Amino acid sequence: MPYFDFGEVQIIDDSVDDLDIIKNIIKNEKPEDPFYVADIGDVIERHQAWISKMPKVTPHYAIKCNSNSTIIKVLAALNACFDCASKQEIAQVMQYDVQGERIIFAHPNKLPSHIKYSKKVGVERMTVDSELELTKIKEFFPEAKVVIRIRCDAKNSPVSLGAKFGCDPYEEAVCLIQHARNLGLNLHGFSFHVGTPCLEMDAYCRGIEICKRLIAIAKSIGYNNVELIDIGGGFLSVSGEEFDELADLINGAIENLDPGIRVIAEPGRYYVGSNFTLASYLHSKRLAVSNDGKLRRMYYMNCGVYNAFLDELIGVEARVPESAFEPTSDEKFLSNIWGPTADSNDLVVKDVLLPEFYIGDWLVWRNMGAYTLALSNTFNGFPIPTVRPFIKRSQWESFLVQIHQT
Ligand SMILES: Cc1ncc(COP(=O)(O)O)c(C=O)c1O
Repeated sequence: MPYFDFGEVQIIDDSVDDLDIIKNIIKNEKPEDPFYVADIGDVIERHQAWISKMPKVTPHYAIKCNSNSTIIKVLAALNACFDCASKQEIAQVMQYDVQGERIIFAHPNKLPSHIKYSKKVGVERMTVDSELELTKIKEFFPEAKVVIRIRCDAKNSPVSLGAKFGCDPYEEAVCLIQHARNLGLNLHGFSFHVGTPCLEMDAYCRGIEICKRLIAIAKSIGYNNVELIDIGGGFLSVSGEEFDELADLINGAIENLDPGIRVIAEPGRYYVGSNFTLASYLHSKRLAVSNDGKLRRMYYMNCGVYNAFLDELIGVEARVPESAFEPTSDEKFLSNIWGPTADSNDLVVKDVLLPEFYIGDWLVWRNMGAYTLALSNTFNGFPIPTVRPFIKRSQWESFLVQIHQT
């Protein structure tokens, strides 16, 4: 087991929670910039829950969702696997002693230099969804383990990846199998991504059935070693009974698979969605009467759609904050909360009834781990929120025991 320095992780008493940590930071450090507190113990528990409840589905954490180095380091130490979308992501994961067998390069459209890099560092598994990509792999990495990505969309997913990726699972997929065969490539399996977050669980069952059928077709044209079904990501950041239901459904869908078939997944938001909490600071306020004649409280905070709230900009989420400290009254007012930039699209909360806030107040935003930090930028010079990782003492102690056993 390689030595990793986890010095950035604050170890806290089991009785302390994320809100206590936020209040302490505000009180002691008097910060002005936004920050996340990240519950690393919860990431570890989620990994363990997945492994124990879906033992036949190897999770490959999709680092695009949140590439915070502590998360990657902790999962690397637990011997987890990873889904990377670029050479840079592969390099980031490999810093932590993750070998190529633990990585899938799950981007169907790859730059030539990224394919060459994968070959150099031994990341053999990679997804494709077109003939031209197969031809590219033939040129740059003919020994790669090719995974054909098919389209299988869940109904109502806010982000439908099928619009961009995945071949038609019928005729086109069969043509790709044949093309791979003609090129003499090593066909390893099939994958899909139902969209994110997935709001129709049956989509996974549909995808698995299609993959089974394609494996049979591949066998019929001479591919006898096709051994992988990759069920992608999209899993909500649920735990407890909700996760048990998810696990039952997936376990049921793979129950009768040929024992020679391995199943993997590429969860991103499942691992981190709910364990990052953001704290932001209100630095300005005004009352405004708009063209509709309504009076609104207009708040301006140090973190906006460009620093953490892209979901709000593209209409995927509509989050509402809590106050870090008790509001002075229960009365609520029509309010907008704007980000700090000079852009009028930088609107995080629109026309929501909120208690009165004051300049200097801190707001707390939950469920901020997935696709917030990863999509942040410094537009107008406003900084990307920092991350304060923490773990409860009992979880830290059992983590240390586990990593010494792996
Ligand atoms: C190929 C691939 N795998 C996995 C993921 C992770 O998805 P999620 O965070 O919804 O689990 C994505 C997200 O875009 C993806 O494109």
